[in-house]
Amino acid sequence: MKITSIIFFVSGLLFLALAGCSELKNSKTPVEPAMTVHGIGFADTTQKSSANFHTKYIQTKNYDLKLCQSCHGTDYAGGTTGQSCNSCHNKPNGPENCTTCHGSINAAPPKDLSGNTARTVRAVGAHQKHLIGGTLGAAVACNTCHKVPQKFGDAGHIDATPHAEIYTDTTSAFYRSNAVYNASNVTCTNTYCHGNFNGGNLNAVMTWTDTSSTSVQCGTCHGDVTKATLKEKAFPKTGHTAAAVTADCATCHVAVVNSSMTIINPSRHANGRID
Ligand code: HEC
Ligand code: HEC
Ligand code: HEC
Ligand code: HEC
Ligand code: HEC
Ligand code: HEC
Repeated sequence: MKITSIIFFVSGLLFLALAGCSELKNSKTPVEPAMTVHGIGFADTTQKSSANFHTKYIQTKNYDLKLCQSCHGTDYAGGTTGQSCNSCHNKPNGPENCTTCHGSINAAPPKDLSGNTARTVRAVGAHQKHLIGGTLGAAVACNTCHKVPQKFGDAGHIDATPHAEIYTDTTSAFYRSNAVYNASNVTCTNTYCHGNFNGGNLNAVMTWTDTSSTSVQCGTCHGDVTKATLKEKAFPKTGHTAAAVTADCATCHVAVVNSSMTIINPSRHANGRID
């Protein structure tokens, strides 16, 4: 690869020199040499999905950007080539910005490494539902579920095992104590948030790629989804006196829910304590 690059480079220069000569001879406008150190199309942003574009090349080299730094500089500002990566990759840290290879609004998919954006794809799944926070609960930190590198070059970021390695701690971490992730059918069981608490639905199985709203309706994590009213759905199977279901939940859980069973303060729901 190196030798061929040099040959290309040298022949490129030669071509330039020859083009220059012919210009002198017959004063024709020189044709710009199409030959580059890289193949044709390597930097052609109108052909981003072409196999010749540098995305594919970088993927086949297992995202080893050191290969590029040798000529384009450790800061990607051009190095010996004078061609900066940062002119296009203009976010902080240039090509090493977290969203270059995956993510967009944050480092988490979508998009995933293959460019997928659909929530039904394993690597995309329910990321943004957890990260943005919503009507039900507060945002969940990345490292609740798996390790997150501080920097591109950190150990364990790009490693020999494909896919993110989901934590499977048994007792050590509150939100995932005894949680189980099944990578073959992408399901989580026994996470605190989805039922692993006193009065919760201990064995609720959540599918990471499920896009139906039934997976987060009242009754999934505590109570019983098959019941008729929202109050009955959300009412925990154990822990309350039967009389509590006839009362307004808001009488006691005033910081969390209102009398229409709407969560009024997501940061206090599924936050690890009964409010
Ligand atoms: C052997 C030295 C060398 C290596 C290694 C190298 N490049 Fe280059 N690159 C160059 C040179 C020289 C140019 C200048 C124009 C040309 O010949 O294409 C260039 C140009 C480019 C351009 C076009 C820049 C522009 O503004 O049009 C891109 C994109 C690029 N390189 C990407 C990469 C990527 C990605 C890697 C790592 C996978 C890489 N290069 C590795 C030498 C190198
Ligand atoms: C002419 C503009 C341009 C230059 C210069 C350029 N890139 Fe890119 N690069 C792109 C575009 C466009 C994409 C594709 C983004 C997309 O698919 O949305 C891309 C994609 C990438 C990716 C993502 C690969 C993946 O699998 O998603 C990496 C890494 C990368 N470039 C590194 C570099 C490096 C390193 C250099 C400099 C050596 C460089 N680029 C120079 C435009 C450029
Ligand atoms: C040049 C491309 C590229 C850039 C830039 C990049 N990543 Fe990654 N990232 C990858 C690849 C490839 C994987 C899959 C690695 C694997 O499965 O071993 C990955 C995996 C991950 C994972 C899953 C980790 C695991 O194995 O458990 C997280 C989290 C992550 N990246 C976060 C980040 C963050 C945060 C940044 C910015 C500091 C970042 N990435 C920048 C390519 C990149
Ligand atoms: C609720 C749990 C959860 C949270 C929070 C979470 N992830 Fe993930 N992440 C997953 C799961 C599940 C996968 C898919 C694992 C698999 O493929 O088996 C994954 C996969 C990934 C991948 C691999 C993408 C690929 O193409 O293979 C990256 C990168 C990633 N996550 C980044 C992040 C970042 C960055 C954050 C925080 C901003 C984050 N994740 C937060 C559960 C989570
Ligand atoms: C009379 C006051 C009262 C009413 C009314 C009430 N709760 Fe509770 N709730 C409590 C108390 C006290 C706890 C804490 C129990 C404990 O620590 O074990 C609790 C705990 C919970 C929990 C956590 C799981 C558990 O069983 O500990 C959920 C979920 C819950 N309530 C939902 C509801 C819903 C839904 C309603 C309305 C249908 C409701 N509650 C009505 C007092 C009440
Ligand atoms: C994603 C799982 C999940 C869903 C879906 C869910 N809850 Fe909860 N809920 C929890 C958890 C976990 C707790 C335990 C207390 C805590 O951590 O805040 C809880 C507790 C409660 C409580 C007790 C007050 C407190 O401390 O938060 C009420 C009331 C409640 N939920 C109502 C509802 C209603 C109404 C719905 C439907 C709109 C609903 N829940 C749907 C996970 C869920």
